Amino acid sequence: MNVYETVAAAIGNTALVRLNAVTEGIEAAVYAKLEFLNPGGSVKDRAARSMIEAAESSGELAPGGTVVEGTSGNTGIGLAMVAASRGYRTIVVVPDKTSAEKVAFLRAHGAEVRVTEGARPTDHPDHVRNIARRIADETPGGWLAGQYDNPANIGAHYASTGPELWQQTGGRITHFVAGIGTGGTISGTGRYLKEVSDGFVTVVGADPLNSTYNGGDGRAYYIESIGHFLHPDSPEDIWPECYDRSVVDSILTVTDREAITTVRALARREGLLVGGSGGAAVAAALRLARTLPADATVVVLIPDSGRAYLSKYFDDDWVARLGFDDRTGDVAVTDLLGDTLDPLTVPSDATVAEALEVLGDRPELPVVLRRTPSSLVVAEIVGSVTRNDLIAANPTSVVTEHLSVPLSVVGAFESLGAAVKRIGADTRTVVVAESGIVSGLLSAGQLTDRSSGERSGR
Ligand SMILES: Cc1ncc(COP(=O)(O)O)c(C=O)c1O
Repeated sequence: MNVYETVAAAIGNTALVRLNAVTEGIEAAVYAKLEFLNPGGSVKDRAARSMIEAAESSGELAPGGTVVEGTSGNTGIGLAMVAASRGYRTIVVVPDKTSAEKVAFLRAHGAEVRVTEGARPTDHPDHVRNIARRIADETPGGWLAGQYDNPANIGAHYASTGPELWQQTGGRITHFVAGIGTGGTISGTGRYLKEVSDGFVTVVGADPLNSTYNGGDGRAYYIESIGHFLHPDSPEDIWPECYDRSVVDSILTVTDREAITTVRALARREGLLVGGSGGAAVAAALRLARTLPADATVVVLIPDSGRAYLSKYFDDDWVARLGFDDRTGDVAVTDLLGDTLDPLTVPSDATVAEALEVLGDRPELPVVLRRTPSSLVVAEIVGSVTRNDLIAANPTSVVTEHLSVPLSVVGAFESLGAAVKRIGADTRTVVVAESGIVSGLLSAGQLTDRSSGERSGR
């Protein structure tokens, strides 16, 4: 048992584990499908193997060939792993925000990694996927995996994930919950489960707040690998062909805060270290399960492990800085934000003249990707502009030509002492974040004065 001739054959047949603690008060059974148990560490091993095998069968990928993909994450790792075991060369194009660990994973399997700027509209020639397509075209024997539109991605889940769940639950599964990235997992697994159960299984998507899949405006969010981000300059919101909406009965929107709270609870209360997309899926599954009777069986898919996110969702400092924690101390940063303190920001496509108007007397302001001033996500801050720099600049030029480094960010619920420590010697304006969203701006002086006032008992 469990002895395989190749690493690719060891993909799949992952464990299904019941959730016992976070399900308090829930009558239905909730089981988690642990996809981080795949050899490459994620659900994407299934799609990677399936896409490579389909390309081998069609002749698109031949011995001596090169596997090419544009991806920030797990698909690249799955492809690099399977390609390494079959002697293919791999080239992966990744956005610049990709963690050093993920790049190291790819290089460990011998993949060549090309790093490019991430936040670009989809029609930009140097958008990650457009670069990958060019490399595949220009490389002799090059083959673009194209996970977003490749039917072998859906096929992997129709042929393996779906049947495994049906077997593992003895046909008792009533609800399947998963996040939607390319849509391969939910579409393939969901399609199989619906077919095998004569439409009895309900398929539910978990979608980050802001994602356009469930009606958001496409702003950024902190949960990686699921949902659909839309750059404001993208001409159209094109969804992956692998996302088959007809399979999904409903979608539940999950906030970053809910997903982060859930991953932390799973690690501490269930002993399950899962990534952010798994946290979002479990949050949705629990919300759903609360409404279901005792004879319901909910299965939620966990795409990857929390190991790749130890410096984010599991790092207390990261969580506090973005305001994802809960208030603990008596006086927190948020108490210093008066009603009049607008989170004033400059849109990244503003001219210098427009920006100077927004700035008024202020010494500096953050520059953000969007024009709408409410719900500005900290992740969409691209830098800052100072009044002094702009006064000296050509008034018709665009502000992004005059960017300074981003302003310091402190969490809304941090104590004043912690916030002062965080900004260190920075004397500029400080951005305050609550649940990852800009809730206001403070001058560094306001923060340090009040903090020393607190200490001296004023
Ligand atoms: C961590 C993680 N979660 C969720 C997904 C989404 O899965 P799918 O692309 O099959 O929708 C991915 C896909 O890359 C992923 O890497």
